[in-house]
Amino acid sequence: LFDAVPQAPEDPLFGLMAAYRKDTHEKKVDLGIGAYRDNNAKPWVLPVVKKADKILRDDPDLNHEYLPIAGLPEFTLAAQKLILGPDSPAIKEGRATSLQTISGTGAVHLGGLFLSRFLPKPTPAIYLSNPTWANHNQIFTNIGMPIKSYPYFSAKTKMLDLDGLLSTLKAAPEKSIVLLHACAHNPTGVDPTQDQWKQIAEVCRERSLFPFFDCAYQGFASGDLATDNWAIRYFVEQGLELIIAQSFAKNFGLYGERAGAFHFVAAPGSKAQDVTKRVASQLAVLQRSEISNPPAYGARIASIVLNDKALFAEWEEDLRTMSGRIIEMRKSLKAELDKLDTPGNWDHITSQIGMFSFTGISEAQVLAIREKWHVYMTKNGRISMAGLNTSNVKYVAEALDDVVRH
Ligand code: LMR
Repeated sequence: LFDAVPQAPEDPLFGLMAAYRKDTHEKKVDLGIGAYRDNNAKPWVLPVVKKADKILRDDPDLNHEYLPIAGLPEFTLAAQKLILGPDSPAIKEGRATSLQTISGTGAVHLGGLFLSRFLPKPTPAIYLSNPTWANHNQIFTNIGMPIKSYPYFSAKTKMLDLDGLLSTLKAAPEKSIVLLHACAHNPTGVDPTQDQWKQIAEVCRERSLFPFFDCAYQGFASGDLATDNWAIRYFVEQGLELIIAQSFAKNFGLYGERAGAFHFVAAPGSKAQDVTKRVASQLAVLQRSEISNPPAYGARIASIVLNDKALFAEWEEDLRTMSGRIIEMRKSLKAELDKLDTPGNWDHITSQIGMFSFTGISEAQVLAIREKWHVYMTKNGRISMAGLNTSNVKYVAEALDDVVRH
């Protein structure tokens, strides 16, 4: 039956990780996957997560029963407050509903499934930024949603292509879906300014476009949780109906625990509460058929921290440790390239934000730097800044310098 199944290519990111692990070169550097590393290139368990883990393990009532279909209520409510803001009009007016998901990926998938099931047929296209996280394409393709793209990054200025973005969205058919990275855009590290977000919100309103926010890096862009969610809060204040995929993989370092949430926010109005209730009921049906109910551990850890004032403050401190080290590495890399007088303009290394930098080097140069210097990054020239540390930043600068000169 399956004789004709073609061989699928390896996942580019996880394939890269496997190639890095196999490499025995002593100076190899992993700038591939977006996962935080400490200054010794080691995974970092957040101190606040260690504390929460102890609290959890010491709980005599802890058991391994199923969570409700929509997940752990203490977690989803805290996640909702975190993403919308504790004083959000959507929360006060009872027009937000949230489900726990298999991290951000699960939330993006659930969102896609919900849209393709309940939007009028034919399902409108979802507009993805060019470029975007590679998995976005894969997830929406699997669901069978038509995919289009909007310009995002200008290779020339290494900044946001605002004109391209706005003109494409202005020409998009009404009710199209627009996927927006809430902060710390992956892969470019370029975010709209607040003024630019206002213009994007305006187009969404004018053209009746439906915003779908993906928020995987809250806390990594500005180092401040509320600032990083400014765009989402602004869109909600503007009365736009929207959905959000939220991941706790990066900001809690809970990568493998798959803790995330999906949020629906109805537009304000007399029907809003009723719509929200009905949407929640349908989301629960979708969730039940897909995963029955979500995994408990990561959500329990995040929930302990999110619901305790003192632990929350410690978490913010841990976030500043991570984002602060990344900012230091941006400065060091830029300084090393300046010292080498590396051809080209490298200002974007320090002006871009979040976990990633889009170096601007070509695919051939990416392959050359891997071959010759054992420095691993994705083919589009994206580097995870967290892979840099005080011991390897000079080496990486030399490697970059070498490949751009040849
Ligand atoms: C990344 O882009 O490196 C991360 O979001 C990890 C992933 O799952 O792709």
